[in-house]
Amino acid sequence: MSIRNLIDITDLTVEEIDQLIATAEDIIENPAKYQDACAHKQLATLFFEPSTRTRLSFESAMLALGGSVLGFSEAQSSSTAKGETVGDTIHTVSCYADIIAMRHPKEGAPYAAAQFSEVPIINAGDGGHNHPTQTLTDLLTIHREKGRLDNFTIGFCGDLKFGRTVHSLVNALSRQSGIKFVFISPDELKMPDYIKENVLDKNGLPYEETTSLEEAMPALDILYMTRVQKERFFNEADYVRLKDTYVLDPEKLVPAKSDLCILHPLPRVNEITVSVDRDPRACYWKQVKNGKFIRMALIMKLLGIRV
Ligand code: NCD
Repeated sequence: MSIRNLIDITDLTVEEIDQLIATAEDIIENPAKYQDACAHKQLATLFFEPSTRTRLSFESAMLALGGSVLGFSEAQSSSTAKGETVGDTIHTVSCYADIIAMRHPKEGAPYAAAQFSEVPIINAGDGGHNHPTQTLTDLLTIHREKGRLDNFTIGFCGDLKFGRTVHSLVNALSRQSGIKFVFISPDELKMPDYIKENVLDKNGLPYEETTSLEEAMPALDILYMTRVQKERFFNEADYVRLKDTYVLDPEKLVPAKSDLCILHPLPRVNEITVSVDRDPRACYWKQVKNGKFIRMALIMKLLGIRV
């Protein structure tokens, strides 16, 4: 059997994503059924960049499947600090683990890593490029909140240039019908041309671009807020100037739909005030929980395990 990796969200077909969502929903209903699914299997989490939710949800997912985990949470504690290449690190870890989730600051690093691995590689975020498992988390949350993955208007707000979660989610939603995309960002942080051209224009999908969250708000069914990605800026002054462009607070939500679904991959900095957490439309803490269940479904799929 050939190795299945998840480097880009389009490595999974729309049908496979539907199956993962169905499995995750079954896990939520019947967790005991899955508690030994990955007994004696090992997941390695190799994080060359900071993380809270992604790494811990992967580890929590594997433990809930009866498997075990190993890995590192910063490059400095691995032989990367001695000058080892990603290829050699992955070659090594694939001798010890059955599956690897890796995050790396360089775009394309997980793809390169997969060439050196004897076990499945999962991209847990590569630079400002992609983040397919956050997209699975987002899709599960949308499915649970809206009961469907098609026919809605979604606004992406904030750092659309460096925000890898938005790139992967736009890619996934471009395969659904009836999605209207609204991109809300400062001019400096607009959706990259390669996404607009290769994903949207190529498939004849319409989108709007605006700098005004207020103007976009009334039409939205889903609002996907993002953090300005400080670590990807070349100079501090630009970051400071742009970081608080959008701050979602209860007042800005007054003209929004009553069944708006507010998502954010987290961590948030200033872009959603804590007072919004009490609004029933805030779904980002549900997203955090869902991240574990969809990763359980994904680990089983890539290991070829069915229960
Ligand atoms: C995101 C990421 O790492 O890209 N976080 C996450 O994985 N939940 C978003 C971010 O860091 O802003």
